[in-house]
Amino acid sequence: MRLLATDTDGPERLRAVAREAQQRPAHALPGYFYRSAVAYEADLSQIIYRSWLYAGHVSQIPEPGDFFQYEIDEDAFIISRAEDGSIHALVNSCRHRGARVCEEASGSRKTFVCPYHGWVYGLDGSLRGARHMEREASFCAGSSGLRSIRLVTRHGLIFINADPDAADFSMALDRIEPALAPYRLESAKVAHREVYPVGANWKLALENYLECYHCATSHRSYARSHSIKDISSNIAPLRAALWERAQRMTGVEGVTSTFDGCYDQEVAFGCSTWNNRYALFDGYQTASRDGKPVAPLMGAFSGYDGGAGDFQIGPLAFMLNYPDHCVLYRFTPRGLARSDMEVVWFVRGDAVEGRDYALDNLTWLWHTTTLEDEYIISRNSAGVNSRFYEPGHLQPDFEYIEIRFIKWYLDVLAGSALPAAD
Ligand code: FES
Ligand SMILES: [Fe+2]
Repeated sequence: MRLLATDTDGPERLRAVAREAQQRPAHALPGYFYRSAVAYEADLSQIIYRSWLYAGHVSQIPEPGDFFQYEIDEDAFIISRAEDGSIHALVNSCRHRGARVCEEASGSRKTFVCPYHGWVYGLDGSLRGARHMEREASFCAGSSGLRSIRLVTRHGLIFINADPDAADFSMALDRIEPALAPYRLESAKVAHREVYPVGANWKLALENYLECYHCATSHRSYARSHSIKDISSNIAPLRAALWERAQRMTGVEGVTSTFDGCYDQEVAFGCSTWNNRYALFDGYQTASRDGKPVAPLMGAFSGYDGGAGDFQIGPLAFMLNYPDHCVLYRFTPRGLARSDMEVVWFVRGDAVEGRDYALDNLTWLWHTTTLEDEYIISRNSAGVNSRFYEPGHLQPDFEYIEIRFIKWYLDVLAGSALPAAD
């Protein structure tokens, strides 16, 4: 992909393009934001690394010494469980000369030993050994541990934030708690995880998730079962019927509670959350080929209401939670025109593959749908990178969250204080 010139495009140009785009609300983003390295750097410094991001689930690190990595752009974070059981988010960059101290995506260790000059770190990031450095009077081992960033867990979901001044995520999580807690994700099991790399800027991957205007045309299987592929006025009776029966049929108080704190309505910067419950079409108890259950009921659920809990948890992560399984979606920038979409399937903690669920059945719908998304997102990327692309008018009923994301994004970039260009 040819990038827009970046040596001459500084923060002034970025702000000017953002301010110009603000004059056209309810329109797609200009191509500049998908192609400019200056915009991408602002995305990372002003948005991504100031936000609460889903890193993983506690079941990935059940024992002291366990760890996994989460890679964002060119950065890698080690999520580790230390000897005392505490969980840490460590920057995978040695405090000597910066080499990555850990290469494996996940595993179990007593220490991290840098492969370059052999400095040794504990699972909590503290420096345990630095060869021959004791001779250096000005060297302080106590302040030479791996850098750590903020971390919070809720229902076993681990979130990280690289901004030391970021707002506490708890207050945003509290607002979706009544609907999220009953799935009891803290004791759930990750049945499957899959990363779908896509050749597109992270915003294109995310924006695709934020609207279901494309569902009827791009996702035939999904559209058969999930009612939000239809315009809201058409499905209002279906939704009203779901809301009337949901609590009675699931046995879950709070299952129909809602909260809208996403993007331009977030409770504090980087803390975007929402939740809602929408209807599946008649005959569908869950997201499966035939509408029949694919796993044992989750947590506090005692039955099926024909609905799905729709959640945003931080600006880049989402969940679609059915009574018998939960599906988490995460979008991660990996470069200006490269992103990872990760899908995580959760089932009840004591469910056994082969006995209680078949992986193929469990993952079929969202695997199929994500492959379809990967295709349309990559086509979208090719189109917006054309010099002749012009942002079009968005459909306000289907694309209202997309409209709100774009407003939020432009507001941040239009006012962002970037370092002066070299
Ligand atoms: S870079 Fe890690 S020990 Fe030198
Ligand atoms: Fe899609």
